[in-house]
Amino acid sequence: MMSSPFPRSILQVAPRVVLSLLLAACSRGPGGTGASDVRLPPAGPPGDPAIPARVAPVFPAGWRLPAGQPATFAPQVMAVSNSPAASAAATEIMRAGGNAVDAAVALGFALAVTWPEAGNIGGGGYSVVRLADGRVAAIDYREIAPLAATRDMYLDANGKLTDKSVYGHLASGVPGAVAGLSALLERYGTMPLSRVMQPAIRLAREGFVVDTALAGSIARARGMVTRFQRSTPYFPNGQPLAAGARLVQPDLARTLEAIAQYGAAGFYKGWVADSLVAEMRRGEGIITHEDLSRYTPVWRAPIRTNFREYTLLSMPPSSSGGVTTAESLNILEQYPALPSYGSTRWFHLVGSAYQRAFIDRNAKLADPAFVPVPLAQLTSKTYARQLQGTISETRATPTRELEPRMQALPREPEHTTHYSVVDAQGNAVATTTTLNNSWGSGVWVRGAGFMLNDEMDDFAAQPGTPNMFGLVQGEQNAIQPGKRMLSAMSPTIVLDRDNQVLLVVGAAGGPTIITGTSQVILNVIQHRMTLMDAMRAPRIHHQALPDSLTFEAGGIAPPVLDSLRSMGHAMRQLRALVNVNAIMRVKGGWEGVPEPRRSGGAVGY
Ligand code: GLY
Repeated sequence: MMSSPFPRSILQVAPRVVLSLLLAACSRGPGGTGASDVRLPPAGPPGDPAIPARVAPVFPAGWRLPAGQPATFAPQVMAVSNSPAASAAATEIMRAGGNAVDAAVALGFALAVTWPEAGNIGGGGYSVVRLADGRVAAIDYREIAPLAATRDMYLDANGKLTDKSVYGHLASGVPGAVAGLSALLERYGTMPLSRVMQPAIRLAREGFVVDTALAGSIARARGMVTRFQRSTPYFPNGQPLAAGARLVQPDLARTLEAIAQYGAAGFYKGWVADSLVAEMRRGEGIITHEDLSRYTPVWRAPIRTNFREYTLLSMPPSSSGGVTTAESLNILEQYPALPSYGSTRWFHLVGSAYQRAFIDRNAKLADPAFVPVPLAQLTSKTYARQLQGTISETRATPTRELEPRMQALPREPEHTTHYSVVDAQGNAVATTTTLNNSWGSGVWVRGAGFMLNDEMDDFAAQPGTPNMFGLVQGEQNAIQPGKRMLSAMSPTIVLDRDNQVLLVVGAAGGPTIITGTSQVILNVIQHRMTLMDAMRAPRIHHQALPDSLTFEAGGIAPPVLDSLRSMGHAMRQLRALVNVNAIMRVKGGWEGVPEPRRSGGAVGY
């Protein structure tokens, strides 16, 4: 066995049912953006001196997202999300004089209406902000474990893990989204909450036409949501809304109006809080009025790291996103010359870097209010050099050699949603928000009209046993009352060598958020792809356990696949990996690209 830089802190794992909800359904054709109010980019590479010329990549023959497609271009402002209507809410607010923060908050509330599988007021998230004057900030509005939560609350009488951290009332952490968005607006916005929430309230009250993406999502969620309540606006009389139907959400509109009128107190106190607590009592839920009234978002210093001459600003713990991204890129930066995109060596080195960074992530990261987190060590170049020294050029390192007490289990990517916003002044906001599983716990708050999260599954509900994503996490992320569960969300802003915003990027997909987001960044910086090519490039994923290199079907050329197998990589194929939404600065404006594998909208002017 090779000597390992990792502590022996992960326990043996036991089998557990793993959800299999792939990022499979592309509801619109590859390359479509669902955009409006846009024009095509100028021909040729970005001509800004700080942005080197772009290089056309070579993807494997037959890869379903060919290179060379144009992105949505806009000269002044851009908003990109998984919902064209929510992106349009952001530009509506910017047209009315709001800045990127006003627009991002408008977008966040609108997503709760138009993308209810992940956009939310019943969940939580993170925002990273970079203002045109150079100020940076990060706000953590992750859910917290209720006061009545206990370490073993999801184990049955025989000590076996149940599915109650994923489904039903007990699965929910105390929601943070409303407190976080309100605090973000108050500190860096220019408009009142009542103004920026107008598009969301209108969409909820007047309704909007369900597109094929939302209809598909609703249809897939039927069993889960109708298990807890027969009738919701998404399933009137238990039947899923079809594409073309109008989704009107009067209860949600009333809730949003209460928030618009009273601020966060309109959610955490009063009749909305009463409805949430009453919903808890209908199931086995434990969130109380005290939990709601005590919820507070946390301002944090963003993780600041550099890759080559570019600066990354990303989310610190309670998310693992920024640290794990920094650690992975630091390992890769140790190579003076990295191989070309698509080569055996490229996939081997990138996968091996992720494998090492995820071992640390799973063992050492958690809510810093509860456990010491070695941030300085994990993000240091010296430590990265040590890890890089463990990567063989000729063979994959089994995770059990690096961390002997880990075992492999399957896992599949899951949901969340990311949005990116920039304004004409150069202010930028990257936000990732989630209910965890698509449609959260499946529980809809009667009378108040919103879905609740199942974020408690992001804790190590039984340390050493894989969670919904197959992540095997240690004792440091065990459940404790008031603690934030470790996240992978990675809202990231990349600055160029002149300290100007180059990229605003982030993703949905559980642990694949980290690998998907960082590969788009690598494709732009290292391989000098256009943003559209960087988004369409085939992706890989490694999270230490399962000890496999996951890849997208058709995304790795057969001879490269054979070479990776012969090096010892257990290759695992999925149809699609990760749901990224990104903006890149180009000459004369911005390019916006919603996830080509999913649905979304880039809207600008
Ligand atoms: N719920 C997914 C994450 O926060 O990583």
